[in-house]
This record gives sequence, C-alpha cells and structure tokens, in this order.
Amino acid sequence: MIPVLAIDGPSGSGKGAVGMGVAERLGWHYLDSGAVYRALGLAASWAQVACDDERALRALAAALDLRFAGGAAAEPQVYVNGRECSVALRGPEAADAASRVAALAGVRQALLDRQRAARRPPGLVADGRDMGSHVFPDAFLKVFLTASPEVRAARRYHQLKAKGFGVTLPQLIQEIRERDERDANRAVAPLKPAQGAIVLDSSALGLQDVIDRVLAMVSC
Ligand code: CDP
Repeated sequence: MIPVLAIDGPSGSGKGAVGMGVAERLGWHYLDSGAVYRALGLAASWAQVACDDERALRALAAALDLRFAGGAAAEPQVYVNGRECSVALRGPEAADAASRVAALAGVRQALLDRQRAARRPPGLVADGRDMGSHVFPDAFLKVFLTASPEVRAARRYHQLKAKGFGVTLPQLIQEIRERDERDANRAVAPLKPAQGAIVLDSSALGLQDVIDRVLAMVSC
C-alpha cells in the first residue's frame, strides 16, 4: 500500500508550507486539497453559479480541469479550466468561495476520486481538512496542525501582502474566525482532528521546527 501522511488543520496553521517541506524531504508527492476546493470556488464564480447550487456545482466539479505547471515548485503556475489563476487562487475571495462550496456533501463526494488519485508511489503527503478522517482514513500518520487565530491571521497577512493583496490584519482575523466557524460547524467533514491524529500547535514554532517534528514522527 502506498503510504499517506495526512496533515489537517485550520486556515493559516502552516499545513501547506509544512506539507510541501515534508514531501520534499521524503521525496513524496504532495496534495494541496484546499487548492481543489479553491479552484471549484473560482470556476463557480466565473460561471456565475451560486455557492449553494449543489447540482450545478457537482457538474462543475466533475468537469473541473485543474493543472499545476512548474512541478514541485513552491509557487507553481495554476490553470483552472485553461485559465491561469495562480494569484487569484490564493486570494481571500477564492478562500471564501472554497469554504462555501466545500460545505456541500455532493461537492465533496464529486471531488473525492480526484484527491485519492494523488496517491502515487513512493508516497503522498496530503494537506487539508479531512485528509485523515475521510479521504485517506488509512494514512499511517495523521497530524492536526493548529495555531492561535492571531498567529494564523498574521501569517496569512504576510503571505497575502507579498502577493499584492490589499488586506488588513483585523479584516483577516475576522475572516479567519468566520471561516473556522463555518468549517467547524458544517454537517459534512467538520474541521476537527481525525481519530488518532497527533495535535501539533505551531503558534510558537518556526516552519523548519514544525517540518523537523513531523519528520521525527515519520521515522518513529
Ligand atoms: O490555506 P487555507 O487553510 O486558508 O485554505 P485551504 O486549505 O486552501 O482551503 C480553503 C477552504 O476549502 C477551507 O476553508 C475549507 O472550507 C475547504 N477545504 C475543505 O473543506 N476540505 C479540504 N480538504 C480542503 C479545503
């Protein structure tokens, strides 16, 4: 069986950077499942499909063409339905749309096989909200990465500023709280640690420390 390491957690917990770093060190593939939901959120807004129109969203999900160019680069170019949208995919609007479409059971089901197809030799590091609980319940290691809302908002603020988004810190704290609440209280795949997950609070840890801790868990 191809091994999967699941890293779940809320927005800004660092799971993307940690997941990529761990995958690079192990020489494994990396799945950014949030990018799949973000891509669907963007596709829905382009097609003027409402974020609660489950039937239309399922059809969009089934036809979603999501491609990454630039291999395992930290900032690959992303094409959604043939449109280059690397910057927009990371923005607050795509995040908000992602969290709305992700609350629909039919949408999650329609995106399941696409995520599972990322499991290829020699192994996969998968990051998201339900990697350990639902998409890869047989993952050999499940990590739930978290940090305080203020630390997470500050990290996201610096990332978005660097990409040229006009955001403010109080606005991001508010957005992160709202999205956390929506993700934690939805009926399907609510955000919480999977059974057996190791909870790691990264509030006071640097990126390299977190990567090293996860790698130490892998070799245990
Ligand atoms: O990077 P950040 O954590 O802010 O967001 P993301 O991982 O790109 O995910 C964007 C949104 O997609 C989240 O707020 C979730 O609602 C949703 N999502 C999900 O429901 N399940 C996943 N496996 C990944 C993302």
